[in-house]
Amino acid sequence: MIDLSKIGMEKGRQYETIITTANDDGSKNAAPIGVIIAGENKIINRIFKGSHTLDNIIREREFIVNITHNPEVFTTSILADLPQNYFTESMVLKCADAYFKCRVISLTEAVKQSDPVKKKGEAIVIKSEVIDLVINKPTKAMNRGFGYVIETLANFTRFDLVSDAKKEEYVERFREANRVVLKVGTKEDIESMQEIKKELIKKGFEP
Ligand SMILES: Cc1cc2nc3c(=O)[nH]c(=O)nc-3n(C[C@H](O)[C@H](O)[C@H](O)COP(=O)(O)O)c2cc1C
Repeated sequence: MIDLSKIGMEKGRQYETIITTANDDGSKNAAPIGVIIAGENKIINRIFKGSHTLDNIIREREFIVNITHNPEVFTTSILADLPQNYFTESMVLKCADAYFKCRVISLTEAVKQSDPVKKKGEAIVIKSEVIDLVINKPTKAMNRGFGYVIETLANFTRFDLVSDAKKEEYVERFREANRVVLKVGTKEDIESMQEIKKELIKKGFEP
């Protein structure tokens, strides 16, 4: 049994990874994609139609999930194509702290509409089995929750020093941060946001 908790991945939570896949011309593709842990060796992705990653996964039925905290890789794979020399022969990112190979179990049309920009039915939910985990160095998969907690705390420390308009802006930012943390954050991230929410309520706001 593969233990994804070794790289800080907990059941039911979402992590931001780089998924690498094979293009039909044999070249390699990388894209930042969220990974939801569905069980000890099962993961779920929700990928919008039109991406190379989705086409490649449907065709090849397998892909690699790379764990990295390298901002350049996230940025370049969105704004351009990640150069081929970033990949090993076996489709893994050379800079990956850890990676695992996945084999598709099922592909389902998405029915849930939780994304602010896309319409229902434009994504495919992919369930996969994790078949191999390689840890190159101790690491924890990227979770968007903690960054939001830190950002919200930084705003909170400035709260009493700013104008009423800025306070409203911070409350609005809190709502967005809380929305994301509730969706993807760890139990501890969610508890922290609840604590900050209580303090904002004490100050007379409705976050
Ligand atoms: C942190 C992060 C997470 C992302 N997660 C997803 C995701 O879970 N599903 C998805 O369809 N797109 C996701 N995206 C957007 C894709 O990475 C983006 O559409 C990319 O251009 C697809 O590239 P491709 O055509 O090479 O596959 C994410 C982007 C970022 C920055």
